[in-house]
Amino acid sequence: MSLLFCPKPATVISLRQFFDGQQREIGLFILGGELGRQNIELKMELTPDLPLVRGQRIQLQQLLLNLMLNAIDALQAVTEHRRGLTVRVASGKHGAAIVIHVIDNGPGITEEIMNRLFAPFVTNKANGIGLGLPLCRSITERHGGTIQAHSVPGQGACFEVTLPVMEGG
Ligand SMILES: Nc1ncnc2c1ncn2[C@@H]1O[C@H](COP(=O)(O)OP(=O)(O)OP(=O)(O)O)[C@@H](O)[C@H]1O
Ligand SMILES: [Mg+2]
Repeated sequence: MSLLFCPKPATVISLRQFFDGQQREIGLFILGGELGRQNIELKMELTPDLPLVRGQRIQLQQLLLNLMLNAIDALQAVTEHRRGLTVRVASGKHGAAIVIHVIDNGPGITEEIMNRLFAPFVTNKANGIGLGLPLCRSITERHGGTIQAHSVPGQGACFEVTLPVMEGG
């Protein structure tokens, strides 16, 4: 899993800029078309004074995009209620961490997948490889953080990423 990690120096990153403002680095404009086509309501909940993190910008983008793409895939199964995706970014642990939640109201994660969720090549998709979540975990851990998933079958899935904030950030 080291293939994608080039040894670039870490930079100071504002996660707010990923989602908000002119730069919209997360590529929300690309996802936007998909969200519209699939009738998914996106809620962005960003705490105003988010601390900064130090790390690899492209990797953090990849992490968030993978989680959001998985949610979009899962929501395809929803026909009975409004498809919803919430991305919440807040500060946690008394300001020492940033906590990101990516939450969908899709079918949830099956028990069989849940047991091996972050292992490589675990997928239930016809065209999936099963590398998205292992990559998310590697990226998170390289940034000194943790990633966990919670799921209530039939109600949805929630991925929680915690990243340490930059000292003085
Ligand atoms: N939000 C979610 N809701 C339900 N199941 C999920 C969700 N996110 C991940 N999963 C399950 O976890 C599996 C593994 O996800 P992962 O991103 O690693 O691989 P993938 O999406 O199948 O393929 P790819 O390599 O293209 O990302 C998925 O196939 C799916 O079964
Ligand atoms: Mg995936």
